[in-house]
Amino acid sequence: MTVRDPPVSALAHIPGTEGWPLIGNTLQYLADPKGTAERFAKLYGQVHRSYSFGGRTVSLLGPDANEFVLLDQGKFFSSEHGWDRVFGLLFPRGLMMRDFDEHRVHRRALAVAFKPRPMKSYLQKLDQGIATGISTWLNASPSFRFYPAIKRLTLDLAAVSFLGDECGPDLDAIKHAYADMIAACVGVVRRPIPGTQMSRGVKARKFMIDYLGGQIAARRANDGHDLFTQLCKTTTDDGALLTPQEVLDHMNFLMMAAHDTLASSLTSFVYFLAVNPDWQEKLREEVNALGLTPGEPLPYERLDELPLVEMAFNESLRLIPPAPSILRRAVRDMEFGGFHIPQGTHIAVNALYTHHMPDVWPEPEKFDPLRFTDEAIAARHKYAFIAFGGGAHTCLGLRFAYMQAKCFAYHLLSTAVISVPPNYKPSWKYWPIPLPRDGLRVNLMRVR
Ligand code: HEM
Repeated sequence: MTVRDPPVSALAHIPGTEGWPLIGNTLQYLADPKGTAERFAKLYGQVHRSYSFGGRTVSLLGPDANEFVLLDQGKFFSSEHGWDRVFGLLFPRGLMMRDFDEHRVHRRALAVAFKPRPMKSYLQKLDQGIATGISTWLNASPSFRFYPAIKRLTLDLAAVSFLGDECGPDLDAIKHAYADMIAACVGVVRRPIPGTQMSRGVKARKFMIDYLGGQIAARRANDGHDLFTQLCKTTTDDGALLTPQEVLDHMNFLMMAAHDTLASSLTSFVYFLAVNPDWQEKLREEVNALGLTPGEPLPYERLDELPLVEMAFNESLRLIPPAPSILRRAVRDMEFGGFHIPQGTHIAVNALYTHHMPDVWPEPEKFDPLRFTDEAIAARHKYAFIAFGGGAHTCLGLRFAYMQAKCFAYHLLSTAVISVPPNYKPSWKYWPIPLPRDGLRVNLMRVR
């Protein structure tokens, strides 16, 4: 489907700003996405137009807008054409880059890899990797920068649970490839001109596609339990295997979707536990109540016994959502909030803005996991919390993410107390994914 930008005049009735020549509002969004969205909402209202990352975008803000766009009952919005500007050259044809019927067929095929049996097997790999990773941290210096350490660990974990143990010798090359592709997603130059980040990203994609592509036939013939092997064997509703190119596009996207979001969310989780020692202690009590010997694997069947860990993880995802904005593109004309929105319009909903709306989240800057009790969730707008999106494109790895966060919390809190220097307030950079600019200085002290 070809979708064209609407003429500028077709958006002129929507209040907003064009920003500076050529770059529009990009620098403002890069420097302070939350403050910029809040300022524009005050100036222009919750439906407004701005210009960033090479194009004009209409932002639709607040829970009702999230529901309208993400649930998309009118089939107005393309995810593929929304994300194309960011992921087009790097992760084309991943699940998020497919729409409507085709998306549904592929999502059902991929969902097989997230059923309890394969999940159990991923947990075993995650558990070993997390236990080893944390014990390495504890045996090295007690003070270190958390973000680079967790980033290494989450990519190692994605590699072993998604690709299996065989990828060990290639791990460094794989890590570099993802670092290059992810950096290219927000590179200023959007074409792969030699010497640019985009050119490095496109090269890295080719490396990964060649690397993974060389293994499909062998994986179809073996009985490995890793995610790649599951995808090589998965079939669509009509019983056909995914084509090799489809397997590669999905795998490449999944590796990216999984490790960076987890590195970001586990960093903010650790930070909020460090500065809220009362909550850290409550979670430690919950983890200890499992009655496991520290270092012992966390059984899959016991994941549900960590509700406070899940609530606290959700609260850190609320405060610092790894996907601060979700992008779409209108494939048909529509009305929202009293405005006509023409076909072709780039649309953004904003998790970071919604998650800090004071009328939805009283004292929005306060870390309070009790916002995620069953009663509190039931009393709130269903689309007030969109860290994992919503509707047809809701994060497919959501249960994988909770599983990894719980496994990580279990091993970390049963062996160490987390602290940060007094009065420490790291500054967060939000693009391409939220992370503390200084890497987050933490201190781990063994509990026993
Ligand atoms: C805390 C961790 C994570 C967060 C916050 C997160 C967030 C999101 C969000 C917001 C979306 C929806 C984007 C949209 O609607 O355009 C999404 C989609 C997706 N995520 Fe995640 N994600 C996380 C972890 C994971 C993991 C671990 C995996 C894989 C194991 C994964 C795989 C996917 C996939 C495949 C999609 C596309 C779903 C579709 O289009 O149907 N994510 N994620």
